[in-house]
Formats: sequence, structure tokens, C-alpha cells
Amino acid sequence: MHKAFLIFIFIAVTSFANEPISPIPLKNDVNIDKAKLGKELFFDTILSKDNSTACVSCHDVFSGGADKKIVSTGFANKKGNIQSPTVFNAKYNFKQFWNGRADNLLEQADGPMKNPVEHNMDAATIEKRMNTSLHYMKKFKDIYGSSHITYPLVLEAIVEFENALTTPNAKFDKFLRNEIQLSKEELEGYVIFKQYGCVTCHNGINIGGNSFQKIGTFLEYKSTNNYPDRSEITKNPMHKNVFKVPTLRNIALTAPYFHDGSAKTLKQALKSMSQHNLGMELTEKETELLILFLDTLTGEKPKILDEK
Ligand code: HEC
Ligand code: HEC
Repeated sequence: MHKAFLIFIFIAVTSFANEPISPIPLKNDVNIDKAKLGKELFFDTILSKDNSTACVSCHDVFSGGADKKIVSTGFANKKGNIQSPTVFNAKYNFKQFWNGRADNLLEQADGPMKNPVEHNMDAATIEKRMNTSLHYMKKFKDIYGSSHITYPLVLEAIVEFENALTTPNAKFDKFLRNEIQLSKEELEGYVIFKQYGCVTCHNGINIGGNSFQKIGTFLEYKSTNNYPDRSEITKNPMHKNVFKVPTLRNIALTAPYFHDGSAKTLKQALKSMSQHNLGMELTEKETELLILFLDTLTGEKPKILDEK
């Protein structure tokens, strides 16, 4: 290999090495047949007891992957007690759910299936239903080699679809890879994001999703719902008001914000964040610049959504 080429690679690899945020990898290995099957299941109400609800009911993958309602509505129009987070890039989260009670996407997917206010289903009923669908029996046979459909395989296919839901090539990622420049304002927003310490909690590939932190490190936060925080999982009173730090990728598309959906706009979310977690007030101008930076975190729509 040419020396010049090696130097080029070295620069390309190290150019974002010093930044606290890293781009979403352009290469995403998924089994496309399983992912497409999972896509179909994600959209299918067959997986809910009264055929009313599908994963997509609360995770709008055509806009941000989250739910615009403060709390989602599921089985029999029952309301849950918490804001639905985005499924985009969820594979990069170190734990799933706001309180991190699932270790990975497979464990996570079992949750909504059995949740009485979501799909309200059980494994036996799902298997019984799936094994009367000639359509699905054929698909599972083609992909898994047997027309006998099991609950774990249903979950596996859905997870493979979720693995395909990455949103690469955000303007900010292209900037990190030295492909484009940010505008002066966007760059100023990023500098504020780093200087004010947002980045201590929101960093890494998902700009969040890799630690548990408290909401209200400076000013106590009073939730508007009764969702069990991290302390109810760990039984450690120090973890009161502790949640998984949410991703800031595609944040312009995922209002309302916070686990209780209390912030309707990004502006409101930033006001709360700075008061509760930085102990300061942002000026109008700083808020504006931060929002311009956050807007550069919107990535490409996952390709699988356009595939038949
Ligand atoms: C009735 C609405 C509803 C339905 C239906 C639903 N979800 Fe969710 N989903 C939510 C809510 C609300 C949360 C947050 C719950 C929590 O954190 O405790 C969530 C959390 C998640 C997360 C975790 C993301 C993160 O950052 O922690 C993933 C992944 C997910 N759902 C995927 C799915 C899949 C797959 C299905 C279908 C099998 C599904 N959801 C069905 C509302 C729903
Ligand atoms: C001490 C850690 C910490 C710091 C510092 C911090 N955040 Fe957060 N951020 C969190 C946590 C935890 C949440 C989730 C809170 C919840 O819903 O209970 C959050 C939520 C958010 C949300 C809402 C995301 C969503 O999907 O609901 C935005 C936007 C946000 N932060 C932006 C910022 C910005 C901008 C800064 C700097 C001005 C900042 N944060 C500083 C920990 C932090």
C-alpha cells in the first residue's frame, strides 16, 4: 500500500478520535431477509391480543421512530405511563428502556408483547396465531428452514429489523469525517454543547444511551408521571430520578421530550436540562445556537423502510 494512502487513512481515522461524539458506522451488517420479515411483524397488528396494536403504533418509523403523544396508547386504548423513545439507533444503547431494565433488544422486545397496556399477548397465543397464517409459515420456512413458527424466532426477526434502523450520514457525522463544514452558528452550538458540559452525559455514538444519569443534579426534578426510575430496579435510593441518558440523534423529530413527555419543544427541553442538570439559564441566543447544532444530528432515513 502507498505510504500516502496510509497517511490518508490515519488522518481519516484520527480526525474525530478527539471528539466526544463518534459517527454512526456506514457499514451495518444485518441479515436483510430476517430484517424484512421483522419489518412486516413490526407493522402487523396480528401480534396484539385484539388486533389493534403493532410496534409501529407507538414507534413511528416514518418520523423519528418515537411517538408524538406524551404517553402512548396501546391495547384497548389503554394509556401507558411513559413517553415512547425512538427505535432508531437503539442497537447502540447499552441498555434498553428509560430505566435500563432490559440488557438488549431481544430482552426488550419481549416487554411490549406481554405488557397489558401494549400488545397484551403471551408466547403461546402468538405461536398459535402465527402457525395458522400460511403467509408467515411460508416466510419462516424460506428464512429459517421450518414452517413451525416459535416465539423466540418472531422476536429475533423483529430485532433484526431494529438492527437495520440506523440513521447514518447526519450532517454532524459528515463533519466529523471531515467531509463537510458546519455553518458558523452550528459550530458555535457544538462549542456551547461541549463547554457547558452537555457532553459529559450526551456522548459516544448515540450522543447518549451509554450511561445512567440523574435528572436534577442541580435542581430537583419532579416527574409528572409515576414511572419507576432506576432506583426501583437497583433498589438503591441513590438512584432516585436516575434514567438512561437518551440519545440526541434525530432529536429534532422526537418531541415531546423526557421520560414523562413534559417538554413539548426542544426549546423547553433545553431550558429544563440547563436548569436541572447544569444549574444555569441559557440565553435566547445560546438556546438558538444549541438547537441549530442539534438539528445537524438528524440522519438519513433507514434504507430498509423503502425496501419491499
Ligand atoms: C403502546 C405503545 C407501544 C407499543 C405497541 C410498543 N412500544 Fe416500544 N416502547 C413504548 C414505550 C412507552 C417505551 C418506553 C418504556 C420504558 O422505557 O419503560 C418503549 C420502549 C421501546 C424500546 C427501548 C428504546 C430505548 O431507548 O430504551 C424499544 C427498542 C422498543 N420500545 C421497541 C418496540 C417493539 C419492537 C415493539 C413491538 C413488539 C414495541 N416497542 C411496541 C411504547 C410502545
Ligand atoms: C448530568 C447529565 C446530563 C447533562 C449534563 C445534560 N443532560 Fe440532557 N439528559 C440527561 C438525562 C438523564 C435525560 C433524560 C431525563 C429524563 O427524561 O428523565 C436527558 C434528556 C435530554 C433531552 C431530551 C431527550 C429526549 O429524547 O427526551 C435533551 C434534548 C437533552 N437532554 C439535551 C441536553 C443538553 C443540550 C444539555 C446541555 C445544555 C444536556 N442535555 C445536559 C442527562 C444530562
